[in-house]
Amino acid sequence: MLSEINSHSNRLGLYIHWPFCASKCPYCDFNSHVQKDVDVAEWREAFLSELRYMADIYETKAAAPAMLHSVFFGGGTPSLMPVSIISDILDNIGKLFTLAPNLEITAEANPSSTETKQLTSFKTAGINRISIGAQSLNPKTLHFLGRAHSNHDIYNAIEAAMGLFGQVSADFIYGMPEQTINNWQAELNQIIKIGLSHISAYQLTIEPGTQFYTRHNKGETLTCDDSIMADLYQTTTEMLSEEGLKLYEISNYALPDAQCIHNLIYWQSHDWLGIGPGAHGRFTLPNNHRWHSQTRRSPDGWISAVKANQHGIDTQIEDDQADFAREIILMGLRLSSGINLPEWLVGNTEFINVTWLQQFKEDGLLAVNQNHLRVTHKGRVHLNSIISRLLN
Ligand SMILES: C[S@@+](CC[C@H](N)C(=O)[O-])C[C@H]1O[C@@H](n2cnc3c(N)ncnc32)[C@H](O)[C@@H]1O
Ligand code: SF4
Repeated sequence: MLSEINSHSNRLGLYIHWPFCASKCPYCDFNSHVQKDVDVAEWREAFLSELRYMADIYETKAAAPAMLHSVFFGGGTPSLMPVSIISDILDNIGKLFTLAPNLEITAEANPSSTETKQLTSFKTAGINRISIGAQSLNPKTLHFLGRAHSNHDIYNAIEAAMGLFGQVSADFIYGMPEQTINNWQAELNQIIKIGLSHISAYQLTIEPGTQFYTRHNKGETLTCDDSIMADLYQTTTEMLSEEGLKLYEISNYALPDAQCIHNLIYWQSHDWLGIGPGAHGRFTLPNNHRWHSQTRRSPDGWISAVKANQHGIDTQIEDDQADFAREIILMGLRLSSGINLPEWLVGNTEFINVTWLQQFKEDGLLAVNQNHLRVTHKGRVHLNSIISRLLN
């Protein structure tokens, strides 16, 4: 329930990164690699070893070890993950953590036909929420984005997922060079007809290190212009809202009971652990600092590190209270419902610029009610500048 999720009682999430994909998409800067053969036993052992190590650190160091509310298999392409590894991880979490009764267990899945066939065994392993990387229902856009699947594959994957799982989400990208309000509205109407309870709709961004970045630097136009992008966002929010899919975060829309518990853990600055190559983790320490970890990004480097040390942690930092304040505001104001500031942050002029806070309130850009802070509809387009001014 939304009210339950918005309360500040601590929650724990677990992120598991599977770094392999069948091919590399030209826009993607995620930690993903194309590798044909994976040693299943080696990867299984490495995940279980790092999982035990992280659970132990959390139990020993966290201010208030919380119940596990979410497990998220992300990537890369977790639908290519051997199901035996997923089962073994899920069998172990019950021994290492106290599980919340409504534990959400999500896997990202690409909609190729082989991966769709895997969905039944994902369910048997314990997955209860699927996020399908559809990206577009338009064949030309799928080709432009270098996707390996067709729009028929998407319909098949979503239909299969809806038959198996209580919660099904899909990711879409908009803002390609040929994108117009009209063609996006037509596509949104097709998306709406599918009847999803959760949709992530992202504006195409050009990320350093990607093929699109190189092409963009050579002068190619790969996104639509900013004013069209802003109109596309407005249209997306209006059309989905009419269907009950409310914008609850900058790019995420859901029916009232279908918000993603895992992402809310990030946006509400709860605790989470990250295992697998390049995964991040953060949790609160007794002094209100944040323990922040990142594991080695390279799959081979991560495996070697885990074999040698039980974990592949590359960086361990203790973020101070100023960093934590920044995290809370930066992440929390992305949510339409806003955030409850913890006691130590409310009215603390060391961390929040109260002159700007007052100004934004008077200008109707921020709604402030005791310790609750929310960006208004009017303020949403100025989100980045609001955040940077609030944080001095
Ligand atoms: C971890 S990624 C990919 C998950 C899965 N492997 C897939 O390709 O569907 C999660 C989502 O981020 C979005 N994304 C990735 N790169 C993006 C970019 N440059 N611009 C906009 N959205 C992007 C895509 O919608 C993607 O589904
Ligand atoms: S978008 Fe997904 S499938 Fe494509 S390279 Fe990135 S993680 Fe892999």
